[in-house]
Amino acid sequence: MRALTFLAHRFVAGDDIDDAIEAVRALNADGLKVTLDNLGEDSHDKAHALAAAEENLAMLRRIAQSGVDANISLKLSQLGMGFDDALAKESLLRIVAEAEKLKNFVRIDMEGSAFTQKTLDIFYSLHDAHPGVGIVLQAALRRTEQDCRDAVARKVRVRLCKGAYKEPDTVAFPDKKDVDANYDRCAEILAKAPIPAMATHDDARIEHALKAFDAAGLVKSDYELQMLYGIRGKRARELREKGHTVRVYVPYGTHWFPYFYRRLRERKENLLFIVRNFFE
Ligand code: FDA
Repeated sequence: MRALTFLAHRFVAGDDIDDAIEAVRALNADGLKVTLDNLGEDSHDKAHALAAAEENLAMLRRIAQSGVDANISLKLSQLGMGFDDALAKESLLRIVAEAEKLKNFVRIDMEGSAFTQKTLDIFYSLHDAHPGVGIVLQAALRRTEQDCRDAVARKVRVRLCKGAYKEPDTVAFPDKKDVDANYDRCAEILAKAPIPAMATHDDARIEHALKAFDAAGLVKSDYELQMLYGIRGKRARELREKGHTVRVYVPYGTHWFPYFYRRLRERKENLLFIVRNFFE
């Protein structure tokens, strides 16, 4: 377990907010913006869900006090969605209100497809009155092209990713090439949304999005490119040097296993690395 914890630190900035702020400062020093995430999902009781809300409020205050360039990302299942949707919505509202007061921004991560509609419903119930909140859409899902069109119509800030969850073929494209094609299509649609955020480490997807944004008349300050902490850091810095706004998703906390597992699953070299280290 100690070895696994050690390996997880490639993708996780540390156990607490102090570790996270230190990582943010280092990234900011290289011109990279950050979105901070307190790891956690699927809270099963009110106490955990409320504690997660307090941690997100504390993150926003700490970002403001320390003057770092970061917003926050969170998962609604961590705030109680799934067992008490009203509680999750109430906590989200408190967090978004605090972010507004501090002139910051809250991004709602997207979880497995069982939660997609619920996440969008809670998000849209707040969005019109609170534009300082944005959503994530996953190119792997068949519904996402329409979700992107709806997001454009409602002037929503969207982060587009491929999707990290294992999904049935009925809701998601089973073939990677179809996910990639949908990513490109969705990037073109989102060129008309406010500050589209392209979250991918895939050069071909980034290039396609940049071409689509250019064709739509966007300039570099109109969109973001986003990557995960510990993945393709050199590429993130190259893109920054070319003048793009690059934001790194920095997770921290002790509840790292589900996040770490998703990072292992999406790349077989990571699994081989673990196996090699285990036997060494
Ligand atoms: P792809 O998987 O095709 O990888 C392209 C290249 O990136 C690989 O060839 C490799 O070089 C590198 N790479 C990718 N994954 C790697 C890994 N784990 N380790 C090492 N190298 C790797 N998902 C979700 O379902 N909900 C969400 O809210 C978010 N949020 C989010 C925010 C941000 C900022 C990012 C970058 C990603 C997410 N994701 C996410 C995760 C996303 O859905 C997806 O699982 C990963 O980004 C991997 O997909 P790529 O687009 O990078 O492409």
